[in-house]
Amino acid sequence: MTDSELTIALSRGSTLFVRQYGRGIPVLCVHGFPLDHSMWRQQWEGLGDQFLFLAPDLAGFGRSILADDTQATDASLESDADDLAELLDRMGHARVVFCGLSMGGYVGWQFWRRHPARVAGFVLCDTRAAADTPEVARGRRVMAERILKEGMEILVEPMLPRLFSNATLTAPDARIFGLIQRMRSCSPLAAARVLMAMANRPDMEALLPTIDLPTLLLCGEEDVITPPAEMQQMAARMPQAKLQRIPSAGHLAPAENAALVNRAIREFLDRLPQP
Ligand code: MLT
Repeated sequence: MTDSELTIALSRGSTLFVRQYGRGIPVLCVHGFPLDHSMWRQQWEGLGDQFLFLAPDLAGFGRSILADDTQATDASLESDADDLAELLDRMGHARVVFCGLSMGGYVGWQFWRRHPARVAGFVLCDTRAAADTPEVARGRRVMAERILKEGMEILVEPMLPRLFSNATLTAPDARIFGLIQRMRSCSPLAAARVLMAMANRPDMEALLPTIDLPTLLLCGEEDVITPPAEMQQMAARMPQAKLQRIPSAGHLAPAENAALVNRAIREFLDRLPQP
């Protein structure tokens, strides 16, 4: 049973933190925006008896460090995907189940494009394949510039009511307050960089039929950012995908209804061929 934290300096200048917990098939869990590895705590605590969770912080988030020469302007999620591939090399994992939430899912698509042999399957939560519309991309670029000048609060405060289900908003527990605190303390440069990277990301919809991998899609029933209807369309276009809707959850289903998310992940991983 592994229970440790690593910090690994990568060749392109960033230093990634990764929490490792459990034993068995390695499951790489990539956080959403603007969160960090700790959003997966209930997954590694609930499922680590059977699966090895590797939960990194992307460059600049949580306890990871951006390369010194980082600019927000030429950012791409491809570089995050390559960072993850190098991290796995350094940890000795050739193949993983890629698990991502929202932005973590966007990184997952790029990881699969650039390192297809390394993906044994996908668990994708509250995410989408479509690129931003021009209007959304413009809004992200404006927000990135404002965050650099004014700090994270201008992003986090208006985002909160859209992130969670009614049940979570009515009775947030200490874990939810902890996640909100992580968002508030996110580095403005890291947030601005990935806002630019998300605005620049390629559209993946046309490639969905070619992603012939065991795939579990999970979506909070009350997710207004990446709604269940959109994820249902993704499931219909991916040869081996199945969507499970998670009640009493919004955009952060793994944190809002961990019991059901964990049950779905366990059943899915139990059926995966051993890598
Ligand atoms: C996330 O949760 O990672 C974000 O909502 C992704 C996005 O802004 O598209």
